[in-house]
Amino acid sequence: MLVQLTYASRVSRTLSSDDIKNILSSSQKNNKADGVTGALCLSNGIFLQILEGDRQKVNKAYHKILADARHKDPAILDYREVISRKFSEWSMGLITRSDDNRQLFLKYSSSSDFDPYSMSGETLRGFFSEVVDNVRWLRKSPD
Ligand SMILES: Cc1cc2nc3c(=O)[nH]c(=O)nc-3n(C[C@H](O)[C@H](O)[C@H](O)COP(=O)(O)O)c2cc1C
Repeated sequence: MLVQLTYASRVSRTLSSDDIKNILSSSQKNNKADGVTGALCLSNGIFLQILEGDRQKVNKAYHKILADARHKDPAILDYREVISRKFSEWSMGLITRSDDNRQLFLKYSSSSDFDPYSMSGETLRGFFSEVVDNVRWLRKSPD
């Protein structure tokens, strides 16, 4: 059974570009092996990640991610069964708030700061749908 899990967390310290590269490379390797797909946003010191795939595999990935000291204050924002994937081509794509997609982050935020903790499940789904539609803004995973 396919599920989508969306959570937010805060960086626990300033992360270097090497930290981010390391997170992405282990994510892409492990997720590919487990058939997990999704996207990771980083903006305003907040991670917003959507994981999709087999329910057990997604739960396993989430519990592993929770144990990572590079972030804190995890909160599940949305969890649901789905009939198909949204990110089928990405073992884990990174989305940062750049000039190109600033509008997209703002469009789904109630304040000028991107704050996924205060976004509803429906708003989050709208945000990720647009992200998918705007693949040219994403740094796609290399596979
Ligand atoms: C915000 C964040 C998101 C992460 N996302 C994933 C992920 O989607 N898949 C994954 O395997 N690891 C992810 N990680 C990394 C894991 O916490 C962990 O470091 C990694 O899976 C260990 O991989 P290894 O056992 O191959 O060394 C993430 C870490 C952070 C901080």
